[in-house]
Amino acid sequence: MTLDQFFWVLGRVSGLSSFAALSISLVTGVAIRSGLLGPLAANRALKSAHEFTAILWIPLGGLHVVSLLFDQTARVSPLDVVVPFLSGYDAVGRLALGLGTIAFDLFALVAITGWLRGRMERRAWTWIHRLAYLAFAVMFLHAVLGGSDFSSPEVSALTWSTAFALGVLSLARVLWGRLPAR
Ligand code: HEM
Repeated sequence: MTLDQFFWVLGRVSGLSSFAALSISLVTGVAIRSGLLGPLAANRALKSAHEFTAILWIPLGGLHVVSLLFDQTARVSPLDVVVPFLSGYDAVGRLALGLGTIAFDLFALVAITGWLRGRMERRAWTWIHRLAYLAFAVMFLHAVLGGSDFSSPEVSALTWSTAFALGVLSLARVLWGRLPAR
């Protein structure tokens, strides 16, 4: 295995792990606030899982990006990590990478403001926090368009099921209302 291949594998594994952490964070986050699942609102294990994975994705996402920066074949530059659509890829590749950058920026904003909850105006905080749904959709597209393993049957069975579960829970929350924060 060459060094480039090592960083490529590391980039893929950490990207998928970061995706898993973010999926758990979003699914548990919407579950503890959905009016349909009232009894779950006070479930401390779910709340802890939400808070733990909301942080866990950061080192995994960081490893994903750093590995792909070291993989010379991927041709990702440090600027691509924060500014979208600058890469020298073809149109689809540029879109895929740019969406990853947007997802990264949005999730970083949600994570940073997540810690500042007590110091922010409540309504502004809530709307910024909801950007996590948009970030998830953008990140999903990034992985579908750019990933090597994401569309394999084994991986896509898990990822599409997660997206479906999130869609159903989000719809339930819209239809049955939102529980207040505890
Ligand atoms: C929250 C942020 C991000 C998450 C959760 C994420 C997650 C993922 C996932 C799940 C894949 C598919 C891996 C596979 O199919 O094996 C992927 C692929 C990829 N990502 Fe990200 N990504 C993020 C941000 C970024 C950023 C900012 C960049 C660089 C600017 C980037 C570069 C890439 C590249 C080059 C691939 C293709 C790797 C391959 O050859 O399979 N990602 N990402």
